[in-house]
Amino acid sequence: APPAFIAPSILSADFGSLGKACSDTIGHGADWLHVDIMDGHFVPNITFGAPVVTKIRPHVERPAEAYGKGTFDCHMMIAEPKKWVKDFQKAGCDLYCFHYEAAIDSTAADSPEATSDKKTNPKELIKYIHSLGMRAGIAIKPKTDVSVLYDILDNEDKDAVPDMALVMTVEPGFGGQKFMPDMMPKVEALRKRYPELNIEVDGGLAEGTIDTAAEAGANVIVAGSAVFGAKDPSEVIAKLREAVEK
Ligand code: DX5
Ligand code: ZN
Repeated sequence: APPAFIAPSILSADFGSLGKACSDTIGHGADWLHVDIMDGHFVPNITFGAPVVTKIRPHVERPAEAYGKGTFDCHMMIAEPKKWVKDFQKAGCDLYCFHYEAAIDSTAADSPEATSDKKTNPKELIKYIHSLGMRAGIAIKPKTDVSVLYDILDNEDKDAVPDMALVMTVEPGFGGQKFMPDMMPKVEALRKRYPELNIEVDGGLAEGTIDTAAEAGANVIVAGSAVFGAKDPSEVIAKLREAVEK
């Protein structure tokens, strides 16, 4: 199985001093920073966009290698994932993780004002992300069946295959929600089919839920409130890592 990557979600950081929060978190032992981008359309909340990512990037050293320390893992909870790939690449994103539901948005595709830009084929989108030198991730919401990913992950064209799958363990939109253990069969199914795949879990991960996620086979762990709400964030990060590595 791939190594453990602990990715604190800066959604729970102090937005008033975000740059420092980012560098402190890497100092506390985090591998990646999970950067939650919300547009108020795909999810009922707004966070920030590429200009903010550009400003926090110099606070965290660029990773020396793929998946290395300091990786910016951008979780794109946005309705038009194709539209923002370039901006985020320029801003310093290393891993662009879009939502399957947004990429195949049939509502957008069928509406009279739909343009080909709104309707995006996940495979083409992954190729586009790769062509700009970033890793690609694909995320699924709790109500989306994991089997929609099989066809995408089984593609012979390696350039069109995502580098990570994100199984949401809460409804995307807000930090501090309760972990959904009933998402674990998705993680188990992915781990069984794809022993080397990076499988990320996001939502409600903390000391009390990490064992469940780790046993199911997740290796990329997002944690927002558990890390930023802690008195000692380094202790929480170390405990999450230990649970995945044991
Ligand atoms: C939810 C976000 C998560 C969130 C996790 O929409 O994608 O990344 O910040 O926060 P916690 O760990 O507090 O559930
Ligand atoms: Zn997230």
